[in-house]
Amino acid sequence: MSKTKVAFVGCGNIAKFHLSHLVLFDDIEYVGFMDIIPEKAAEKSAMAGGGKVYDDYVKMLDEAKPEALYICVPPDQHGFIEFEAIKRKIPFLVEKPMALDMKLAHTIRDKVRQTGIITAVGFQDRYLDIIAKTKELLEGRTVGLVDGSWLGGVPGAKWWSSYATSGGQIVEQNIHLFDMIRYLFGEPAKVYCAGAKGIVQREGYDLHDYSSAVVTLKNGIIATLFTGCYLGRNVPRKNGLRIRCVDADITYILRQSVELDTGIEQALYKKEADQGVTEDRTFIDAVKTGNQSAIRSPYEDACKSLALTLACNESIRTGKEVILD
Ligand SMILES: NC(=O)c1ccc[n+]([C@@H]2O[C@H](COP(=O)([O-])OP(=O)(O)OC[C@H]3O[C@@H](n4cnc5c(N)ncnc54)[C@H](O)[C@@H]3O)[C@@H](O)[C@H]2O)c1
Repeated sequence: MSKTKVAFVGCGNIAKFHLSHLVLFDDIEYVGFMDIIPEKAAEKSAMAGGGKVYDDYVKMLDEAKPEALYICVPPDQHGFIEFEAIKRKIPFLVEKPMALDMKLAHTIRDKVRQTGIITAVGFQDRYLDIIAKTKELLEGRTVGLVDGSWLGGVPGAKWWSSYATSGGQIVEQNIHLFDMIRYLFGEPAKVYCAGAKGIVQREGYDLHDYSSAVVTLKNGIIATLFTGCYLGRNVPRKNGLRIRCVDADITYILRQSVELDTGIEQALYKKEADQGVTEDRTFIDAVKTGNQSAIRSPYEDACKSLALTLACNESIRTGKEVILD
């Protein structure tokens, strides 16, 4: 079996997540690990059982010639890495959020389009078996209202607590549920979002503690999503989506289960497969075959989820509804 040469730029937590799947495959050759903190790169190289550690990603791309690149840097570090990968026609999987402004995201999108390279964005939830089940349960049903939440505390990474480096909780974290709204129900027409501050007091923290976004889809469905990082107690494992159909409620508990309740009968489906393994296998297979069709979140599509979350920030800032293309 031919091996795919893989390299990483950014070797923190999410790189570990992807690596923990790749090491299960026997067709990966690790050719490079680059991080601005060399110990992080060395740690991931050790986890992979080898692979040269670089302190310069341009040198890594030229010397190691990866066939697939994982871009796992914080949200404000995008642009040059993608441009260098595109210049060399290296397929890449990039983590969400892929940029903090649409100008950069669209420049990358257009360059990807011109070269036709394979891309994937880390919307892992699209690969969940219970999301496939949710789609199945939605078939033939009429949906009106959807509500959902991503509530918790403030994550540890220093870059997370500031709009300048993370984009805020909606863009960095709840983007998964905003993306899921698009994946399950279609494109948004407009969004209004209100946010509040004052509970979380930490040095360097400038985010909204919580917000509520009302997304009206082009097909008329209205989705209301709560986002919050002010909880100081154990995070309730009840984040997810509640989908109000004419004849049933469908409740998706984030990365755990989906339940159908018609009022007469209930059916509970628990997650069985590891979506991360599916996500990474799908990306590597796409690189091997040159066929992107199984990738559930190519860069171009992911731009629309990023735009939706950045529109929420704009709405919080201006107090006005934002109309989406
Ligand atoms: N898909 C998901 O479910 C998921 C989950 C967690 C994080 N993420 C995303 O992954 C990205 C990284 O998050 P993380 O949790 O791994 O953060 P992290 O802080 O653990 O890791 C980021 C790493 O990138 C390195 N780095 C920073 N700037 C760099 C640069 N210019 N070049 C090379 N390396 C650089 C840092 O030193 C660090 O080791 C974020 O965008 C985050 O939103 C996605």
